[in-house]
Amino acid sequence: MSSRSTVILGTGSYAPERIVTNDDLAHMVETSDEWIRTRTGIRERRIAAPTETTSDMAVHAARNALADAGVAAQDIDLLIVATLTPDMPMPATACLVQPKLGVPTTAACFDVAAACSGFVYALDTACAMVGSGRYRKALVIGVEKLSAVIDWQDRTTCVLFGDGAGAVVVGASDQPDCGLLGTKLGTFGDGADLLYISHGGSLFPSTPESIVARNHCIRMKGKEVFKLAVRAMDEAARDILEQHHVRADQISLVIPHQANLRIIEAISEYLELPMERFFVNVDRYGNTSAASIPIALDEARRAGRIKPGDLTLLVAFGAGLTYGSALIRW
Ligand code: COA
Repeated sequence: MSSRSTVILGTGSYAPERIVTNDDLAHMVETSDEWIRTRTGIRERRIAAPTETTSDMAVHAARNALADAGVAAQDIDLLIVATLTPDMPMPATACLVQPKLGVPTTAACFDVAAACSGFVYALDTACAMVGSGRYRKALVIGVEKLSAVIDWQDRTTCVLFGDGAGAVVVGASDQPDCGLLGTKLGTFGDGADLLYISHGGSLFPSTPESIVARNHCIRMKGKEVFKLAVRAMDEAARDILEQHHVRADQISLVIPHQANLRIIEAISEYLELPMERFFVNVDRYGNTSAASIPIALDEARRAGRIKPGDLTLLVAFGAGLTYGSALIRW
């Protein structure tokens, strides 16, 4: 682990203004509010305006996190953006966020690609870099404009996702046994074909035909992903609790990736921890991939559900299939 404790100094989030309800979607594809609610727990999601970019949303969330932390953008020397929907393939979205925020040119800026687990991966990376003493203050942003890569004619995927951004500021502390106590990251690479965007990369560059076939959009084998998600999140949670000799009932709040209420309920059952100990906002945002955990973390803090001394468990899974957990003492 790192040589110094690394703590979250502040959190922030941002959701685009436009709300799209399940009934709105029922006008676009053959679906219903009842089907979506009972299968996923989702009631509505936010969708960014066509001109609103991933980096714009990242900047809003980051400003809120900096204000909450009382840290100036000029004091950030590490900026990491977790996203699967960058503004463009190159440069990294972090490089586009940097000048908009006023983060110094001496800061290291890069993106992390681990899909819905991206925020936990990026947080671990930032904490390792700050904990080493080589960086002082990091901004970690999870952000997605998934509406840009959704096939709006595919009812099996378009009802699940939404747009948004969340951010945290990370710094060092001399106080032992606080902040990020540890993480457990892993990957089931054999499941890469269960959730993917096939075209637009170097293997299959986009062609006029691939655009017409909407191969630049998300495809998913939902049932298989569901099963692996439950297994991966359960294992990631158990492993980190064991590593740190913590019982599940010592966790005051679990902040799971918000993909599907039924997945969260399954984890609650497996860990024998009541649903009251799980933060849930999937009903209002759907699955915002890398943004889901930092948005939930920010909302949980603002709702007074995290107090000094509390133990919080973050647990995520996503395309890859990647998974990750993080144990934090506040
Ligand atoms: N509205 C109405 N019917 C729909 C529908 C929709 N939006 N989407 C699918 N259906 C239909 C299917 O076509 C299928 O019909 P059929 O039985 O006639 O073939 C039926 O509903 C059941 O589909 P099924 O896939 O068995 O549903 P499910 O109970 O597995 O739920 C998911 C589907 C996608 C909600 C669920 O599998 C899931 O949440 N998977 C995990 C997805 C996820 O979290 N991905 C992100 C990972 S980060």
